Amino acid sequence: QRSNVSATPPMGWNSWNHFAEKVTEADVRAAADALVSSGMRDAGYVYVNIDDTWEGKRDAQGVIHTNDKFPDMKGLADYVHSKGLKLGIYSSPGPSTCAGYEGSYGHEDEDARTYAAWGIDYLKYDQCSFGDIIEQQAGGDQDKAASIQRAAYEKMHQAIMKAGRPMVYSFCQYGLYAVWQWGPDAGANLWRTTGDISDHWDRMSLIGFDQDGLEKFAGPGHWNDPDMLEIGNGGMTRSEYEVHMSLWAMLSAPLLAGNDLSKMTPETKSILMNRDVIAVDQDPLGHQAKRLWVEGPMEIWGKDLSGGRRVIAYFNRGEAAFDFDPRLSILAPLHGVRFKDLWSGNTIVLNEKSRLLVPRHGVLLLRQQ
Ligand code: GLA
Repeated sequence: QRSNVSATPPMGWNSWNHFAEKVTEADVRAAADALVSSGMRDAGYVYVNIDDTWEGKRDAQGVIHTNDKFPDMKGLADYVHSKGLKLGIYSSPGPSTCAGYEGSYGHEDEDARTYAAWGIDYLKYDQCSFGDIIEQQAGGDQDKAASIQRAAYEKMHQAIMKAGRPMVYSFCQYGLYAVWQWGPDAGANLWRTTGDISDHWDRMSLIGFDQDGLEKFAGPGHWNDPDMLEIGNGGMTRSEYEVHMSLWAMLSAPLLAGNDLSKMTPETKSILMNRDVIAVDQDPLGHQAKRLWVEGPMEIWGKDLSGGRRVIAYFNRGEAAFDFDPRLSILAPLHGVRFKDLWSGNTIVLNEKSRLLVPRHGVLLLRQQ
């Protein structure tokens, strides 16, 4: 199941970053419509993921129902599927979710069956109140805590397998005991590596640049997840959103847009739908980039793509424009090589006189031609 559903990092949309608790069925339908009309679906964004707050109560048989905001989940799934898209949902291994709605604790099999019957294709499973249960059962014993946590995540994986409908399985909760070490064996297609992102340069860049070192755990079917995209939500400049998109693509991170897709500016669309940058994220080799060089706020990251090509990102996290020195020893082996600048579209042949000027909070993303 695992690699079939996420051979490359999942792409789509999630309701949380923009709509949070207010999300309704109408918003989700509008997102599905916009994925198609904007061209995003055809660029690869196929998952339409409902985050927390769709949950209603359980009936006497233990079956979970939706609340008033989502009157007909099966109907919604049919609608989403009719557009060539897939539907995602959210729950918790604890008795309640992070927003205080009904979780799956003790009802994993019923819930997986219900999701399968609705036609769900993706489950984000968020620790939330299960953290208290871990604490009660493990006390201060870290090994015990880790194994209780793992068992809870595996339990839902088993339930999904039994329910018989392939679903992308997304682990959510930062600080999961080294989840990247055991996540793949516990059925994860992706696992959050950080706390929640927000629509601010400081938070986004702190999370993104902090992913270095986790590259060996990512690969086809199992991905590190530095959280969803904020592009288009308005809190960052164009250049900062280009860093966000470039960095997530370099990291082979899931690309889950978190904005209101029905109100996108041409600028937002051009960032989210840059086909070359998407291809860096979706490269079939599935390598996650690593940091090659750092000096203060200047960083160079690189990764290999299929076909023996390299992609190099020059990031400027600083407050003034910066000229990278093309004579840096890590760049010397690339002299004479032709690159495409993936944001301007220009061709550049790297040599010792190349101008590698990167604006404040900006990126130069070069892919070997
Ligand atoms: C946590 C997760 C978020 C979101 C909320 C929903 O904070 O990390 O991504 O799912 O819960 O309550």
